[in-house]
Amino acid sequence: MEKVPLTAEYKLDLDAMEKAIDANTKLVYVCNPNNPTATAVDIAKLQAFCDRVSKKVMVMVDEAYIDYMPDPAAATMIGGVKKGQNIIVARTFSKLYGFAGLRVGYVVALPDTIKKLESVTPGPFSISAPATHAAIAAYQDKEFLGGARENQ
Ligand SMILES: Cc1ncc(COP(=O)(O)O)c(C=O)c1O
Repeated sequence: MEKVPLTAEYKLDLDAMEKAIDANTKLVYVCNPNNPTATAVDIAKLQAFCDRVSKKVMVMVDEAYIDYMPDPAAATMIGGVKKGQNIIVARTFSKLYGFAGLRVGYVVALPDTIKKLESVTPGPFSISAPATHAAIAAYQDKEFLGGARENQ
């Protein structure tokens, strides 16, 4: 695994990450907003990065903290998947939803990528039924989520 240093502002250095790609690169991991620096990259720049880089190699965008962005819908890279980009967007219920330990999350990716992931994971058995039902209930509980965002 090749690690790319952050910028002086503790942000992901997307330019350096792109330059670090070589013939051995299988996947580029981007965490936005990033943990543990709590910094976010420019959304337009990340969109362009995903568009360009995903043509060469798969990009994984970890959006564990996306709900803490001022406008999560504008910040997500899910639009790139919808455009057919070779990217995996990962989400977790461990943060805003407060489910750390329940191990509930999901990915948004192209059908072929999902099939590959299913071949190396236990598929629907990865998440317990109580955790699944709790996640669905929390996802729909807009009042709780609004309060969680305000009290962060
Ligand atoms: C950036 C980031 N991604 C993913 C996770 C994992 O979340 P989960 O609890 O769903 O494994 C964490 C949890 O700390 C995290 O900080």
